[in-house]
Amino acid sequence: MSTFSAVDVITTKRDGGALGDDAITWMLDAYMRGDVADEQMSALLMAIFFNGLDPRELLTWTDRMIASGERLDLKGLSRPTVDKHSTGGVGDKISLILAPLVAACGAAVPQLSGRGLGHTGGTLDKLESIPGWRALLSNEEIRDQLEDVGAVICAAGQGLAPVDRRLYALRDVTGTVESIPLISSSIMSKKIAEGTNALVLDVKVGRGAFIKSHDRALQLAQTMVSLGTDHGVATVAQLTSMNQPLGRAVGNALEVIESVDVLRGAGPNDVRELTLSLARTMLELVGIDTDPASKLDDGSAYGVYRAMIEAQGGDPDAQLAEGSHKDVFLAPQDGIIQQMDALDVGVAAWRLGAGRARKEDPVSAGAGIVCLARVGEFVEAGQPLFELFADDDEHLARGRDTLATAVVLGEEPVIHEPVLLERISK
Ligand code: URA
Repeated sequence: MSTFSAVDVITTKRDGGALGDDAITWMLDAYMRGDVADEQMSALLMAIFFNGLDPRELLTWTDRMIASGERLDLKGLSRPTVDKHSTGGVGDKISLILAPLVAACGAAVPQLSGRGLGHTGGTLDKLESIPGWRALLSNEEIRDQLEDVGAVICAAGQGLAPVDRRLYALRDVTGTVESIPLISSSIMSKKIAEGTNALVLDVKVGRGAFIKSHDRALQLAQTMVSLGTDHGVATVAQLTSMNQPLGRAVGNALEVIESVDVLRGAGPNDVRELTLSLARTMLELVGIDTDPASKLDDGSAYGVYRAMIEAQGGDPDAQLAEGSHKDVFLAPQDGIIQQMDALDVGVAAWRLGAGRARKEDPVSAGAGIVCLARVGEFVEAGQPLFELFADDDEHLARGRDTLATAVVLGEEPVIHEPVLLERISK
């Protein structure tokens, strides 16, 4: 393989040129070997941030990220594999319900997940509030559980697209996270390396989402769908609204409890409907013609959930933690709820202790918020809007303060916004 100069690669992209496939491959490989320095890769990331990558460059960049590590081999399982990835939202506990539900319909769901950072919670943090449950599984354990139970939610191993971890750490400290080619290649390299046959992307848009504008969310969705399809993974994206929290519970144990409610045929309607819509798309991609609603209502999805938790050492009947310090937040006046800002509620839950500021911070299992009213409902002055849980008074006060701007009350009736906004396929 030819040798390139890192400075030439950087200046080509800085000046708006296109990088050759060899140059991209060399740059990522040399970075992994230690022959390209962090500051040089940071400069290239900034040049990509401003000038983008064309479809061919993005495909090569993503291929090389995948080739930086191992690929999980899920061939030979008796069921087709299908996964879901969400770009992250407030109260987004869908994976906990969706993985066992889709497994109950006959597919295998390998959900390799992450921990939360900032105001959106991580699926692993939620499941870790279940006593005994473990997130770390070997590749063999993942395969066995997919065959035996049909669903696994576990930590993405260090071996999948390892260059992404290093690039993400650089992007985090250089203001280059919010780039569509960099986000797409980061997410899709890990999902493609995971070895799933099919993938549904839940791209959140709105106040509590990572991406606030509809146009950018659409562009991200289209880019990821193309990358998946070009790599032989049947991929569809759904653009979904994240203006108010999803469901009522925001916080680790609280979200597990709400997920179990939905798995038992109850729970908030928006959580149930979004789960069913994602499940239908996943099943369609792998050619399974089963109505997932029937599997929620007849208890079979809940049965798979219990088996999935037990297979990873968890006790599905265990009492979950609840923050010992509680408070309620009251409506300051009469009115119809015009807005319940998902970002404010997410930040409040984080400050109550449910989230972490740095990767290595612990999270509280029992901290969080229960939203007692929804957008469009009429509330009276003094009526409780939120129930707050924390492990101490200091966290409780911090979370409470953040909620002050979360709710806007008014006199106008509110037009109901659907959760599912758009479907994107290639
Ligand atoms: N999630 C990822 O895995 N990567 C990104 O770049 C952004 C969100």
